Amino acid sequence: MTENISSIFHFAIIIILIVVRIQLSDGNEFFVNRSKTGLFHFPKDLSLKTTVIDISQNSLSELQISDVLSLTKLRILIISHNRIQYLDFSVFKYNQELEHLDISHNELWKISCYPTVNFQYLDLSFNAFHALPICKEFGNMSQLKFLGLSATRLQKSSVQPIANLNISKVLLVLGDLYEEEEPEVLRDLHTESLHIVFPPGMEFCFALDVSVSTAVSLELSNINCGPDDNRYSNFPNVLSKLQKNPRLSNFTLNNIEMTWTSFIRILQLVWPSNIQYFSISNVKLWSKPSCEEFNYSNTSIKTLSIHQLVSYVFSLRQDCIYKILSNMNIQNLSVSGTHMIHMLCPLQMSPFLHLDFSNNLLTDTIFEDCGSLTELKTFNLQKNQLKEFASLIHMTKKMNSLQQLDVSQNLLTNNEHEGDCSWTESLLTLNMSSNALTDSVFRCLPLKVKVLDLHNNRLTTIPKDITHLEALQELNVAFNSLVDLPGCGTFSSLSVLIIEHNSVSHPSAQFFQSCQQITSIKAGSNPFLCTCELRDFIKSLGQLSSEVVEGWPDSYKCAYPESYKGILLRDFQLPQLSCNLALLLATIGATLLLVVASVTFFCIRLDVPWYLRMVCQWTQARYRARHIPLEELQRTLEFHAFISYSGHDSAWVKSELVPNLEKAGLQLCLHERNFVPGKSIVENIIDCIEKSYKSIFVLSPHFVQSEWCHYELYFAHHNLFHEGANNLILILLEPIPQYSIPNSYHKLKSLMARRTYLEWPKEKTKHVLFWANLRAVINVKLTEQTKETDQ
Ligand SMILES: *[C@@H]1O[C@H](CO)[C@@H](O)[C@H](O)[C@H]1NC(C)=O
Ligand SMILES: *[C@@H]1O[C@H](CO)[C@@H](O)[C@H](O)[C@H]1NC(C)=O
Repeated sequence: MTENISSIFHFAIIIILIVVRIQLSDGNEFFVNRSKTGLFHFPKDLSLKTTVIDISQNSLSELQISDVLSLTKLRILIISHNRIQYLDFSVFKYNQELEHLDISHNELWKISCYPTVNFQYLDLSFNAFHALPICKEFGNMSQLKFLGLSATRLQKSSVQPIANLNISKVLLVLGDLYEEEEPEVLRDLHTESLHIVFPPGMEFCFALDVSVSTAVSLELSNINCGPDDNRYSNFPNVLSKLQKNPRLSNFTLNNIEMTWTSFIRILQLVWPSNIQYFSISNVKLWSKPSCEEFNYSNTSIKTLSIHQLVSYVFSLRQDCIYKILSNMNIQNLSVSGTHMIHMLCPLQMSPFLHLDFSNNLLTDTIFEDCGSLTELKTFNLQKNQLKEFASLIHMTKKMNSLQQLDVSQNLLTNNEHEGDCSWTESLLTLNMSSNALTDSVFRCLPLKVKVLDLHNNRLTTIPKDITHLEALQELNVAFNSLVDLPGCGTFSSLSVLIIEHNSVSHPSAQFFQSCQQITSIKAGSNPFLCTCELRDFIKSLGQLSSEVVEGWPDSYKCAYPESYKGILLRDFQLPQLSCNLALLLATIGATLLLVVASVTFFCIRLDVPWYLRMVCQWTQARYRARHIPLEELQRTLEFHAFISYSGHDSAWVKSELVPNLEKAGLQLCLHERNFVPGKSIVENIIDCIEKSYKSIFVLSPHFVQSEWCHYELYFAHHNLFHEGANNLILILLEPIPQYSIPNSYHKLKSLMARRTYLEWPKEKTKHVLFWANLRAVINVKLTEQTKETDQ
């Protein structure tokens, strides 16, 4: 309890600190935080400019003028939770700016007074004072907004000095030794809000007259009446005195322990008062409720809130409690953190506008077929035991005004065969987060829903064939297993999408085309697959402003492939080439073209094929030469080669061919030189051919036109061209166009077509190879005969 209150005040102090900080934006504020640092004395090393000091939760036992003397700028001093026993206000003589002093939770039993006027916040609560620590000088603190006091004995006279002040809030903590007091003891206290803390832990039901005529808000903490109804008997008196204050509208009971009967009696007593907001929290109840009729008339209550209630009795007849609660004629009812398992449908048309039954044990049977909640606008069933999605629809069916329904953190499941989808049409906000709902839930949703929260369920995809939710503006599907972003075809008004923590690996950029109205998207913490396909999505995200893409760039990271893991999507880049297929093909194409072009170029320029052919022929010739039976050749042959050519080409033959071959020691038969007179040309030729190892024909257009016919007959006769015959060497001196060969020369045509000729190269550089090749073809050892001929 004490902890609670002190934490509330700490919170208040933090707010004040923030406010002070904002007000003094000139940067002159100096904050010193030495809380929980094991101090025994006030720190001496503080800057003279210090304005705020927090030295709470230490072991200080005194505060001297020398400690704070020089801190003339000091505005806020927090020394709560120390061991100070005595405080002389004159120590602050020179701290004219001091307006906030928290010295609560010490061991103060005595104060000495000094005229101080500037305090706005003075907390002396939770100390060891006997009488109220109020000096007559306090009467001058016209700015005082909060005053915390503690005492074990109250006297009307001790409040007197501050009777002229209007304090916003007074906290009065009563000590253990609290005694019976005179009536109307707090009559002179003028405050809007009074919080009285009774001593905790002891069985005690107060008899204090808490009526303060000015209070709008009254909070009473620690009311322990135990399991005995008799101890409660003072309470009606107290409450009846409260009625005398027509201004009192907020009444809070905190930390109470009593019987069920007393509890319901308190409700009944407060019911016809002026109180509008009645809040009860941290309740422990004994014995069983007696089921008396509850009188609902003449109430001013708008809101009743019961928070954290435990019952010490297990076998409880709960029906009458449900009956009392459900038939209340108020607008707001909140019953949360109890073990309530059911609630009845109000017997008559209920004025409930807002029901909060969160954090109970309610099941699917709640408000089954209930037609009397037609005014209800918001209904909170968060954290209960609802299971059936279908029952939920059934429950809300007749709630014609229901706009907001929160059934988050239940056990809801839906199966495929959802019969009835007739939700109440008024529903605008539906929170079904943290349940066990699956994809088919999208087939059964309220048609006009604007805000739909389905985070933390079991969604894997959003089906395409769902009913159009044209009004849906906000969709939260975070913490599911969705693999892609939804399209906005069925959600034409979608403006907020939350889809973080799913399994979206390669979202389509198309989302941004179909969802034009998006003003906020939160899609971080998904396992993005960083490949080419993702680039369009990243580009689309990048084009949106950072207000639209929440969490950008920090929560958008690559998860795959391994090499990009952990990299922010913003920084993810792939070369243009590896992503654009057309570009890739074009590049490959271009490269191939280049290769082909350069090969072609080199072939033409350096005539590579020509060389290849020559080398090939040369190799074949060497091979064949090795396989010819030499002796036989030597017996019959006189010449290495017979050369036949046209007269037009004789210049080349005499200047190039003959010298080159004879230089190599080859014997040649030329018709001018070796023909025997008296024989016909053909006879001569045949003679020459037969004595020669090879026959060389120097082919050119002239040769074809004029000479070829001479040989046709012979060739035909001797079948020289039969398969495998290799006595023939054709040298193509000049190119012969195909058309210029007469059709009747079949043999020549076929030889040309087979390209079995040696081509005379125009380039000088190639001549060496040409001759070498030619020699290789005809080179055979005719040595003996050569010698003979020579002789
Ligand atoms: C009733 O509860 C709603 C929702 O909890 C709240 O907004 C409203 O202010 C409350 N009304 C009153 C009169 O307390
Ligand atoms: C739905 O309820 C959860 C708590 O269960 C809450 O965190 C969330 O903000 C609610 N959603 C909406 C849209 O109010």
